[in-house]
Amino acid sequence: MNAPQTTTSASVWSGRGRRIHMQEVGTRDGLQVEPVFVPTEDKIALVNALSATGLAKIEVTAFVSPKAIPALRDAEIVLNEIERRPGVVYSALVPNVRGAERAIESRADELNLVMSASESHNLANLRMTREQSWAALSAVAATGRQGGVAVNVSLSCSFGCPMEGEVEPQTVLDWCARYVEQIGARGVTLCDTTGMAYPTQVHVLTRAFRARWPDTELTLHFHNTRGLGLANVLAAIDAGADRFDASLGGIGGCPYAPGATGNVCTEEIVHALDLMGYDTGIDLAGVIDAARRLPGLIGHDIPSQIIKAGRRLDLHACPADFEQIRQRALERDTAA
Ligand code: COA
Ligand code: ZN
Repeated sequence: MNAPQTTTSASVWSGRGRRIHMQEVGTRDGLQVEPVFVPTEDKIALVNALSATGLAKIEVTAFVSPKAIPALRDAEIVLNEIERRPGVVYSALVPNVRGAERAIESRADELNLVMSASESHNLANLRMTREQSWAALSAVAATGRQGGVAVNVSLSCSFGCPMEGEVEPQTVLDWCARYVEQIGARGVTLCDTTGMAYPTQVHVLTRAFRARWPDTELTLHFHNTRGLGLANVLAAIDAGADRFDASLGGIGGCPYAPGATGNVCTEEIVHALDLMGYDTGIDLAGVIDAARRLPGLIGHDIPSQIIKAGRRLDLHACPADFEQIRQRALERDTAA
């Protein structure tokens, strides 16, 4: 469809067919916090359904300690048994060399290394100082290089830490510099792990990153914890971003971040960007069909507004007595 053209020159309001790459994290960020274990064959079927929708990347699972995250203890089977579509990058989160070896063995296309920009959150989540994480992840990246697998680094709490408060943009950029310039990471993901980001802040950090590393793949990873998810996506696009993580149904959260809630919702973001004339390349109906499976798999309702309300032009039937209503209304004209 044609997006309505606004009279402002601000580019974000008019997609003009610009490509936005959508990356699904529901089967990792989403399922990791669910108390129920989603059966392995259902996870595989979900990834297969998502593969057909035009997503750029799917973070399929995490190769972490099964004691820490029991919901993803079937990572090997899932990654080995999904059907792979050309053009889709199948990535996996790895916290250490052991995780990287497992992921490479299971033919991950990309390793997503994770550490936090905040010292307290890094200790709580990964049981290491940031410097220890850096040392460990440098070794993980070397493992990736030897295995011929690309590396992306996710920096949790890039927009604030639930324990420390503000995280300075300079701190975040310094960590980005290490991974981009010393390790040669293909991409960096700035994660708003606990939904503390707000549009002006997102704009500043995104613009600073883009200006310094124009050729590095930059992903923004927002959670909708305080209702700012879509606003943050638009702020990031305005500052030059074109790649976003999102989760089917809006499920998700960090088990080590108090009060954390779901990621921005894939079908909500795609729905909004499509209306604005962006090219997400996504079959929205396919994503919605996949999202509808979730309540049955995880045993509870999902945050997705699109699942509840339908798309903007999913029309509803008129009331059963609509003709009588019309007749009575017209009779008022004749009576007057
Ligand atoms: N895959 C499988 N098992 C692993 C593993 C991996 N990548 N890394 C560690 N383990 C196992 C160890 O074998 C050990 O098992 P054991 O108790 O049976 O001997 C146990 O986990 C603890 O290992 P240790 O090296 O002492 O690590 P730790 O206790 O300091 O835990 C982490 C560190 C990060 C590996 C672990 O806490 C973890 O996986 N956390 C999940 C983090 C996460 O996914 N957070 C959400 C996403 S941001
Ligand atoms: Zn997240």
